[in-house]
Amino acid sequence: MSPLIYPSGFPSDFLWGASTSAYQIEGTLNANGRGPCVWDTFAAAGRIQDGSNAAQACDHFNRWREDIALMKDAGFNAYRFSVAWPRVIPTGSGQVNHRGLDFYDRLVDELLAAGIRPMACLYHWDLPQPLEDRGGWLGREIVGPFAEYARVVTRRLADRVKDWMMLNESNVVSIFGYGVGEHAPGHKFGEMGILKALHHQNLAQGMALRAIAAEQSGLTLGTVLNLQTCGAESDRPEDIDAAARWDAVWNRVALDGVLRGQIPELLAERMKDIVQLGDEATIRYPIDLLGINYYSRMTMKYETGHPFDVWWGDPHCDRWTFMNWPVQPDGLYDLLVKLKQEYGNLPVYIAENGAAYDDQVDNDGAIHDVERVQFIRDHLEVVSRALQDGCNVKGYLYWSLLDNFEWAFGLSKRFGIVRVDYKTQVRTPKDSYRFFSEVVKTSRGLY
Ligand code: FCB
Repeated sequence: MSPLIYPSGFPSDFLWGASTSAYQIEGTLNANGRGPCVWDTFAAAGRIQDGSNAAQACDHFNRWREDIALMKDAGFNAYRFSVAWPRVIPTGSGQVNHRGLDFYDRLVDELLAAGIRPMACLYHWDLPQPLEDRGGWLGREIVGPFAEYARVVTRRLADRVKDWMMLNESNVVSIFGYGVGEHAPGHKFGEMGILKALHHQNLAQGMALRAIAAEQSGLTLGTVLNLQTCGAESDRPEDIDAAARWDAVWNRVALDGVLRGQIPELLAERMKDIVQLGDEATIRYPIDLLGINYYSRMTMKYETGHPFDVWWGDPHCDRWTFMNWPVQPDGLYDLLVKLKQEYGNLPVYIAENGAAYDDQVDNDGAIHDVERVQFIRDHLEVVSRALQDGCNVKGYLYWSLLDNFEWAFGLSKRFGIVRVDYKTQVRTPKDSYRFFSEVVKTSRGLY
């Protein structure tokens, strides 16, 4: 399949690469002074569907050089990874573990030597367990420790890492971790759990952004949001209202929070006892770059028994991934245009976009993941169209470089462009890796 499918091309300084997160790839959870996090506890409680855990995952903690070489060979010029809070401050606050920071120090040096821009994310869900024991994201006591952690990490790495993302998907953490209990820490606190966790992540983010800016100037500061346009399953008024409510929860608490310092009006009454005087000003911050994780649109319907009386509806889609997520590249276009029109066309990049499929290994060892190739191709086509239409898109990072530990699904869902054999830890580039690499190299003029 020819990679030359984008007549408008991409800007020469476009960021091309992949994303990962610490907990999903590193392994080595009980060494080098790392402390326990909520996902360790969740897995130990038997909450991972396939019974696996992340103790080994991709063994990236030992194989990072090989993984960087894969990215270099692919022609990438950017890589988003996360720093593990429990490695750096094992109890969440207080004592710093310098051996934890040493790992990222080496990683960053090697990335720079490979010509790859390191884009660090401070929080990709591995909350230190001692902080969860004190209420986690449900209380505002967590704000100080997060800002302190941000300061500690940037003090060590910001001489070389210029791009800093605060949080990954505060909505997913809140809804699945504190609302419906499908993610660590597994609470089913419904609406109030969700709104508290969202608000306190917003606050922690605001404080961390200020802490980092005070530490060093000239950095690119931002955060990563999972944004999905929310449509209604039918034209019944209750479905339309449900979609608007969910849009407020899923997208707008975080988006309007950081960009406008606003609590969505639809949620103001519910949040009145959570929000304190001055919070909106703390939450608002003129970020330099917004990371967008895009997987699909959301189709919502009114249904009691769930937080906010909404649940996922039927999207009438004929393409699905192995996660049972609909494939809807046009939703990404709509999102990018919406951000341009409603939020001042701030610089954004696709910080995650990808798909799990039931990859098969052929007799000769090859993985012909044609659906993933098509998935990438379709989404890049949309990004290119959005660029043509004036959207301020700075890059596209595929989720994920490697097959990895997919949270509550464990090792059973493979998103990588590189296959990982979890027994041998052998990495095998899939067809999608070659396809994506050709697009990147063509676009960057590396041929
Ligand atoms: C996102 C997460 C990422 C990965 C992908 C599939 O919500 O940020 O860690 O699990 O989904």
